[in-house]
Amino acid sequence: MTTPVIAVDGTAASGKGTLARRLARELGYAYLDTGLLYRATGFMTLSLYPAREDITEELALEAVQAISPETMENPALRDEETTQRASKVAAMPLVRAALIEQQRNFAKNPPEGAGGAILDGRDIGTVICPNADHKIYVDADVEIRAARRVKELLERGDEAIHARVLQDMRERDARDSSRSVAPLVPADDAFIMDTTRMDANAAFAAALEFISKRNESKA
Ligand code: CDP
Repeated sequence: MTTPVIAVDGTAASGKGTLARRLARELGYAYLDTGLLYRATGFMTLSLYPAREDITEELALEAVQAISPETMENPALRDEETTQRASKVAAMPLVRAALIEQQRNFAKNPPEGAGGAILDGRDIGTVICPNADHKIYVDADVEIRAARRVKELLERGDEAIHARVLQDMRERDARDSSRSVAPLVPADDAFIMDTTRMDANAAFAAALEFISKRNESKA
């Protein structure tokens, strides 16, 4: 028997991370935030080549290889500069290719004997785990998403200006959706959730219902 896999994809600050984490806790599955891998790559390009605006694919690949377990824990991965850089390096085919195996391994052999795996990102249901048991695609109005991100940043003690966050988010959405490799797009068989008017509890309940119903119909 193969381990169950749930793919949660979606736009920035749509609530996919919160949803994926709660589902993982509820189901006893291991959780991987794949955005952190791209954030770590972006962060390493900034620390290895601070003076360079024009990061080539080769330099970004060196950055992937320089990622350590400590990098993954660095709070700076959530900074604005790193966030924008992450979406730039995420459009590079060699970077994406270098990060595939780690993500597929996690899905196949979830750590600590977990009963399944949940991965969240942009291309989990389309590229990384096209055979995932359940696929969820989360989106929401961009103004609402920007407001959520501002709240999150302020709660962390960071500065955040709504107009700036909104503009960055629009740029990032456009880049993520238009790139030639693994663009952000719902898988054909994804359950699409618009969380514009849903709080985290409502989104969790809807996703859990979708998963339970599908499991029942498969049993
Ligand atoms: O938290 P938020 O949704 O704002 O971002 P994230 O999920 O941490 O992802 C940061 C950036 O990494 C995104 O803007 C994408 O460009 C990229 N990413 C990706 O290309 N593929 C993934 N599977 C996950 C993230």
